[in-house]
Amino acid sequence: MPNPQKEIAKLRAAIEQHDRLYYKDATPRIDDQAYDSLKTCLAELESANPEFDFDKSPTHAVGDDRLEAFQSYQHRKPMLSLDNTYNQEALIEFGRRLEKRFPDQTLNYLVEPKIDGVAVSLTYENGQFVRAVSRGNGTEGDDITHNVRHIKGVPHSLDNAPAILEVRGEIYMQHHEFERINAARELEGLQLYANPRNLAAGTIKLLNPAEARARRLDIVLYGVGACEPPRYFSHQAEIQQKLKKWGFAVLEKIWQTDGIEQVWTSIEALDTLRQTFSYPTDGAVVKLDDFRLQDEAGYTAKAPRWAIAYKFEAERAETLLKEISLQIGRTGAVTPVAILEPVQLAGTTVSRATLHNEDEIRRKDIRPGDTVRVQKAGEIIPQVLSVVESKRPDDSLPFDFGAHLKALGIEAERDPSEAVWRITRSDDPIRQQRELQHFASRACMDIENLGTAVVEQLVSRGLAQTPADLYALDAARLLELDKFAEKSATNLLAALEVSKGRELWQLIHGLGIPHVGKQSAKDLEAHFDSLDAIACASEEQLETVDGIGSIMAQSLHAWFENADNQALLDRLRTYGLNFQSARSDHSDSPLAGKIFVLTGSLPTLTRSEATALIEQVGGRTSSSVSKKTDYVVAGEASGSKYAKAVKLELTILSEDDFKALLNPIAT
Ligand code: IVH
Repeated sequence: MPNPQKEIAKLRAAIEQHDRLYYKDATPRIDDQAYDSLKTCLAELESANPEFDFDKSPTHAVGDDRLEAFQSYQHRKPMLSLDNTYNQEALIEFGRRLEKRFPDQTLNYLVEPKIDGVAVSLTYENGQFVRAVSRGNGTEGDDITHNVRHIKGVPHSLDNAPAILEVRGEIYMQHHEFERINAARELEGLQLYANPRNLAAGTIKLLNPAEARARRLDIVLYGVGACEPPRYFSHQAEIQQKLKKWGFAVLEKIWQTDGIEQVWTSIEALDTLRQTFSYPTDGAVVKLDDFRLQDEAGYTAKAPRWAIAYKFEAERAETLLKEISLQIGRTGAVTPVAILEPVQLAGTTVSRATLHNEDEIRRKDIRPGDTVRVQKAGEIIPQVLSVVESKRPDDSLPFDFGAHLKALGIEAERDPSEAVWRITRSDDPIRQQRELQHFASRACMDIENLGTAVVEQLVSRGLAQTPADLYALDAARLLELDKFAEKSATNLLAALEVSKGRELWQLIHGLGIPHVGKQSAKDLEAHFDSLDAIACASEEQLETVDGIGSIMAQSLHAWFENADNQALLDRLRTYGLNFQSARSDHSDSPLAGKIFVLTGSLPTLTRSEATALIEQVGGRTSSSVSKKTDYVVAGEASGSKYAKAVKLELTILSEDDFKALLNPIAT
């Protein structure tokens, strides 16, 4: 018989560790259900052994997300937790308790989605937004105003509001944003975030608001904490309407019922509908609607007696892990992926699951040939939870990441400070292949007829290493490729030609600049007139762009400073790719459409700076002097272009003349 005191101590320590990982580090090791079952186990042991003081037990406290670096604030009204259940009987029992407490009343309940986000409390004083505070330990939380102020759905002022109002809700991250950020991290070779909730939790605790803003967070508000005057609202349902009127982002749907029996039907309706919500949900919150009754029902030490959370079980399945495949990203990061015997899970067929990195594989001791339990975390991304050890084949061996890479002929190294293996050589053919595939992909230059098989051949035959090489291809070279006939060559060349006119953001995205995804590329295009203007922008200037944080600004700046990248851009420009933003309308500029040739080195301006200036006024640059050239800007050592300009009697400008032409008033 195990010693209950020891068991209790062990469980408390484990739960406290998981609380720390979840609330403070935003990197939980176990899923909600496993965590909840530890807590249930502990609560059962504690109630069977009341002699082991449990005042300080995690069963009687909410977690704590407070961090040293933040100013903490006391909530005017504590932010409590909710009692959880995964079964229908407990829900009915909750209703029975309330019916016993209020025998003469018809009890109306609200059923709301339970959002799997990060709790926040917004304070409004005299209708003005003054502060956003995290839940903290329930009594006192961290001031996260700087990271919340800009979230859409947080109004800065409210009409006809009570003098003091704490609005409660959850911050979350939409799935496409999570994917965008992970894609950028993958590019950087950084470890991927496990799920949107952890990333949202980490983001609200960033010290630099620009960085937090660059990751798009969302919010949904569902309740009220302190309120002055106190009887401003009388029902929960009324709060929802009022919050909506004030401009808060609110729950898409709530169900009003008049009895606990009906509650179940609403929960089922919610379960089918929740996939369509923009926020992740992990259950339903059932609340008594009437605030007078809520007050009378009161609270336990950590949760209201008038509400309960019914959690949906994450769908799980067992299946065979056929192999561990290694995916190479554009920066050479190697990500392990489980290739599974296809299995039905939460309405979709799952045949792959992420394994994160080498450490994760080792920690869970996952091996090819194992039967594994898979789950859709956050309802979307399949994860390998654990191995069914009883079904492991006798001859199975632990997975050796390094050896596996070697066997595949992949030269990679593991950075000792990270869990990531990465191909270090930039001329590695697999890496080049990924870069080209990305460049040609739909979300970038959308080059039809340039699929994986063609890219593979182009790289292996040395016909293309960088995106610029694609534009140097000709029919004769393409005809050397397997399965390439006249028609496919013509089609590919035509597609390449078409791609030259793609929008600027597509090119920016296609360049594969670390951290810069599709949305950031669009943000950059919306702010700058041309690629050259982006290339010349300082880190500070880049950071002023909506959606661009300091990490991205740094990454952009470093990328454009790199000589190889500059050479790549020069070549792409020569091939005639569009470097201009669609937003730059220069129809009324006198220099619109004028052709400039830059030659020799100018005293103060670099080539790209001069190009950016020309493009800002709607002009174009060309690399060769002809009768069509409008202006030749000549610096030192101009050579043959200068001579040709003289011969053609073109207008030749010094740097000063050039500046005066562009900006006649300032000079
Ligand atoms: S009402 C007194 N409603 O879930 C606490 N909470 O696990 C009343 N949550 O602390 C909370 N969706 O952070 C409420 N529709 C909803 C919710 C919700 C998510 C969070 C909240 C709460 C936690 C408990």
